[in-house]
Amino acid sequence: MALLAGKHISYWVDSTFDTNSNYPSNIENITVDVAIVGAGIAGLTAAYLLKKAGKTVAVVEAQQIATGASGHTTAKVTSLHQLIYAELIKEIGEEKARIYGESNEAAVEFVAALVQSEQIDCDFSRKSTYTFADTEDKLTKIQNEYEAVLKLGLPASFVKETSLPFDITGAVKFDNQAQFHVRKYLLHLASKIAGSGSYMLQGVRVKTVEESVPCRVVTEQGTLKANDVIVTTQIPIVDQGLFFAKSYPQRSYIVGAKIDPAIAPEGMYIGVGEGYRSIRTTPYNDGLLLLVGGEGHKVGSVTNTEEKYQNLEAYIRSNFKVESIDYRWSSQDLVSFDKLPYIGKLTPMNNHVYVATGFSLWGMSKGTLSGMILSDLILGKDNPWASLYDSLRATPFITQQSIKQNMDVGMHWVGDRLKGLQNWSTSDVKPGVGELITYKGDKVAVYKDESGKVNAVSAVCPHLGCIVSWNSGEKSWDCPCHGARFTCEGKVIQGPAVKDLEKKVVD
Ligand code: FES
Repeated sequence: MALLAGKHISYWVDSTFDTNSNYPSNIENITVDVAIVGAGIAGLTAAYLLKKAGKTVAVVEAQQIATGASGHTTAKVTSLHQLIYAELIKEIGEEKARIYGESNEAAVEFVAALVQSEQIDCDFSRKSTYTFADTEDKLTKIQNEYEAVLKLGLPASFVKETSLPFDITGAVKFDNQAQFHVRKYLLHLASKIAGSGSYMLQGVRVKTVEESVPCRVVTEQGTLKANDVIVTTQIPIVDQGLFFAKSYPQRSYIVGAKIDPAIAPEGMYIGVGEGYRSIRTTPYNDGLLLLVGGEGHKVGSVTNTEEKYQNLEAYIRSNFKVESIDYRWSSQDLVSFDKLPYIGKLTPMNNHVYVATGFSLWGMSKGTLSGMILSDLILGKDNPWASLYDSLRATPFITQQSIKQNMDVGMHWVGDRLKGLQNWSTSDVKPGVGELITYKGDKVAVYKDESGKVNAVSAVCPHLGCIVSWNSGEKSWDCPCHGARFTCEGKVIQGPAVKDLEKKVVD
């Protein structure tokens, strides 16, 4: 097993307080206007806006506030989403691409205005963002993107010089974007929820949502009632909308290094093409923490994920003057087939259950935007962007990407049943490692901790029955089909599964 540098926790989570004792988990007799499942940026933005508009709300979080995707992002608040505008113009036309830009710009300004009006202490600062090419062969993509954003009237320029410590061949630059400490921001929003008939609940795992009058949010601790329900659990924990079949889960990695502020890059960056890197800094103790992300892959397709961290560390050490490697963590998001998030009703049959998902790695602006749109929909207000992101839009099932992803799921469902070492016993499993074994015909996920204690669970994902894969860097069992994740003991940590892996007894 590789020895990896840095604390294995998101800096955003590590540098903020544990909210375990701050919020109750008692949902007895709660009835509200709107229940929100999931306390990330989309859910908390919606809850904040709805409460401000006079609704009673209950936010229900299975773990701690903002420790899911929102707590593991690079926390760039921008409308420059690597390369997107040239493709959007080609696929959906100039008018819709303009709405995409305008709405994401509005989300950036929403965050900025809220930080100002609420005086949120969250390391918010205005920065420029850059999408850059570091070789001549990648430059055409940058030039195409620049032409596209100019057409759309976005705040762009084309530059060849940046404060990065290496040469680039060209970059699209957006001014007046922003970065912040995402969990400080979200903990502030969460602190505004409870009271006057509203609730902020934590440690409550929702099993399902039933639409009726009123809607029922069924949890392990009981049932909560609400006129409307918003599900913002990254991939919805309710399957009816089939969002798991209209998107795919992508995992990426971040390493945080302490660097000398005098030679730190100014602004937020992302490269293009194979092996691209995402780069920004954040205030850190008396200096700066450099965050470098990348090494993305589809969830469950890589077992040796430790190598991903090693690659990022090597990149940082060869390009920046590093004092120490202090953090490493990974993050997961859902990429929609048309790159647009799904924001709106769960299905055409639902009038009171809403979702927001498919942020495609740009959740700070799209999560904020989701909260803005969903609160407007529930309040009966017109929203100029809602139709572009309508969750019920005709979905591009028949594209190269969607066919490949759904075939991939089918292949995992069938092919992974052949996985699992035959004639292996738990004594063959090395300490600190997870292995799939076949035991009396069943696929069993076995993890042996450093002390030799064996934990055996069924390898069959309780969502739709795919076989989980071992993730060595995170010591988790990850489902390659729709991205559900489980601890090495089999406890669910990420949906769409809502149940743990079943315990097994093996010799
Ligand atoms: Fe869908 Fe596992 S997440 S089968």
